[in-house]
Amino acid sequence: MGNHKVLIGFMGSGKSSVSRILASRLDRRLVDTDAEIEREQGMTISEIFAQRGEQGFRRLEYELLLRLAEEKEPLVISTGGGLAAQPQNRKALGTLGTVIYLQVQPHTVVARLQGDTTRPLLQGADKEEKVRTLLAAREPLYRAAADICIATDTLTPGEIAEQILRKLPK
Ligand code: S3P
Repeated sequence: MGNHKVLIGFMGSGKSSVSRILASRLDRRLVDTDAEIEREQGMTISEIFAQRGEQGFRRLEYELLLRLAEEKEPLVISTGGGLAAQPQNRKALGTLGTVIYLQVQPHTVVARLQGDTTRPLLQGADKEEKVRTLLAAREPLYRAAADICIATDTLTPGEIAEQILRKLPK
């Protein structure tokens, strides 16, 4: 069992902002899986989806997750919104350490991601419907993967980080 602190949850749930605060408070290095994949591939997430499809992106996520499971330095890890919902990732995720689910309502996601062009799965017409459908399908998978669950809709990233710090095993 690893000692990483892993943030999971839907797009727009605040994983990136919260993970930065958490990493600084715990004095740990932060690994953001999307940023790491973009850096390693020299492409944006949108370019990877366009060139290799979602399947190609999921393979890169899986390979990175396996490497993180071997990493001895305790990290804060912020995951892409789909990572924890992929069946092939479940086992590795369970070995990483404490998994923290940032739970969010569909309307909050839609408000936070208004005008966003960087999420290939939410492009095109009827973003709200896409968010509702995808979030409903993933919600039970996120919950099943989580050790700690935080409802984030009315909280700032700083408040979310405080709640996590209070709930973390000492
Ligand atoms: C995805 C979420 C994104 C990114 C990719 C796919 C998803 O990460 O990994 O666009 O399947 O939910 P964020 O949750 O950081 O937006």
